[in-house]
Amino acid sequence: MSKYSVSVVLIVFLILNIIGCSKNLDTQTPPKVKPITLKNSPTPKNDGISKTKISAVTLTSYPASIAAVVNKTYYMPIDYIPKDLVYPNVPFLFNEKIEKRKMRSEAAKALERLFAAAKKDGISLSGVSAYRSYATQKVLFNNYVKRDGYEKARTYSAIPGTSEHQTGLGIDVSGSSGKCAAASCFAKTKEATWLSKHSAEYGFIVRYPKGKESITGYKYEPWHIRYVGNISNPIKSRGITLEEYLHVYSVSNKIISDPLNY
Ligand code: DAL
Ligand code: ZN
Repeated sequence: MSKYSVSVVLIVFLILNIIGCSKNLDTQTPPKVKPITLKNSPTPKNDGISKTKISAVTLTSYPASIAAVVNKTYYMPIDYIPKDLVYPNVPFLFNEKIEKRKMRSEAAKALERLFAAAKKDGISLSGVSAYRSYATQKVLFNNYVKRDGYEKARTYSAIPGTSEHQTGLGIDVSGSSGKCAAASCFAKTKEATWLSKHSAEYGFIVRYPKGKESITGYKYEPWHIRYVGNISNPIKSRGITLEEYLHVYSVSNKIISDPLNY
């Protein structure tokens, strides 16, 4: 084959290739893109609890958000169960690995740091009660209603579906002796003073502070700390509640209706 013939063959080959490629580009089907679905919360698990009608209240928009607002106005989906519950590696007043020892993983890690820091300052903390399912809160609230009546129970215990404990981000903490655990005398303990001063450094706030009852809807609970992530610092330094920080108002203690048909 002459040099001329080789060049012609090469040119024809190149032209065919270019045509082939552009044809390929034109007719290529775009890659399949998986549609993104925005989820407000993990897929609820059917736990057999019947859904009751919610009226005169609002469903919290992002139950799985670290800054989720759950109070007497903003309810959790009844069947919401956090997907990332773990056992924080801190002492509790009991030894069993049970539901109330669990927290969401980010909150659990922060709690471990908080307990370690307290220990360095000579403060021995213990967990009292962390995650509670809707069903557990229902049993608890029922017992308080039997003991103190509905109206009084509501000043210190949440109607099932309205407890922060269901978020997996809240925990009741005491000293390791368990003295005054989740009781008003806890306010006078060195553990309460430490929690009030240092919780925010680890992403927690004392969720139901003294003097803010009309906003939070609950009596002062120096033992109930709530993980909120890095907004803990502005909340603490401004001396405000989560409701005030997020401008979500307001909590009413008035029973407008029986919101969960409880
Ligand atoms: N004691 C708090 C308000 C709760 O029951 O979640
Ligand atoms: Zn609590």
